[in-house]
Amino acid sequence: MKVTVEAPANIAFIKYWGARDLESALPENASVSMTLDHCRARTTVERLPAAGRDEVLLATAGGVLEEAPVAFVAGVRRHLDQLRRWAAVEVPFRVATRNNFPTGAGIASSAAGFAALAIAVAASLERDPDAAELSLLARLSGSGSAARSVMGGYVRWPADDADPASPAVSLAPADHWPLCDLVAVVDTAFKSVSSREGHRRASTSPQFALRQERLGERLAAVGQAIRDRDLERLGPIVEQEAIDLHLIAMSSRPPIFYWRPGTLEVLEAVRQLRARGVGAWFTMDAGPNVHVICGPGDEEAVAAALAGLPRVISLLRDRVGTGPRSIEEHLF
Ligand code: PMV
Repeated sequence: MKVTVEAPANIAFIKYWGARDLESALPENASVSMTLDHCRARTTVERLPAAGRDEVLLATAGGVLEEAPVAFVAGVRRHLDQLRRWAAVEVPFRVATRNNFPTGAGIASSAAGFAALAIAVAASLERDPDAAELSLLARLSGSGSAARSVMGGYVRWPADDADPASPAVSLAPADHWPLCDLVAVVDTAFKSVSSREGHRRASTSPQFALRQERLGERLAAVGQAIRDRDLERLGPIVEQEAIDLHLIAMSSRPPIFYWRPGTLEVLEAVRQLRARGVGAWFTMDAGPNVHVICGPGDEEAVAAALAGLPRVISLLRDRVGTGPRSIEEHLF
């Protein structure tokens, strides 16, 4: 039996950057994200006969299945091992996956991919975990942000001292607030330093402790802004969080520079949009590409401004989404 799941990427408003236990992806701080609608990973899994070995394939945009790179296969097998341990089974799987957006470029491809894998494997083993358990299963991949991609809308992943392994929880469903995320793609190359390495180096930055001190206040304000649908309140915090993440990365030892010339060009365009009265704020994950958050009424103005920039290769027009879904269009 084949199972195919599409799971969305998410964009963090409050970032997960720094882990108290990197192996188990236990975060240093709570994070908050918006689940996207359009940027998705599609993953098909099929159980193989008991004596087989996991097969991991990548599907190209044209639908051709190719052998996945060694490091990718290793990550998927590690996650499959964790999922088998959870289910107490020893079944091997054939797995194929495809993203409809650039991979490893700061658009949460691992969050989408591992959330899809966890949900598809659980379904193929005829298990029916609830959203909280799926969040834990997705996190077992080692990509902490995958814990937030198993549900739609606005999501908080706590970093609870009493229960460091606590799952993500929904703050509000997608229809609570129809925010847009326009992703200005300025570089499609796979990032040279992984988020995992970024988490590992984060605490070597003198900026790390400063940000931790501010997070309690930011988390409360972001939660309230989402409840009140208040973009004027949310936007500046979201920008500050992105700047802090990159300040930490750039001042880690050794430093990590994710920004490209196009990144600065987009940040400048967002400031100019705001000067013209357009309600748009930027954020970035661990990559050079810039997410611009705005309301539906400003979407066209933002799209026109970003698409015209010389270093913007493409513009992904996304919005808040309702979360993963099972589909019948299998990849093999
Ligand atoms: O889930 P990871 O280990 O790929 O780390 C995610 C890091 C950021 O995307 C930069 C921030 C976040 O909270 O999504």
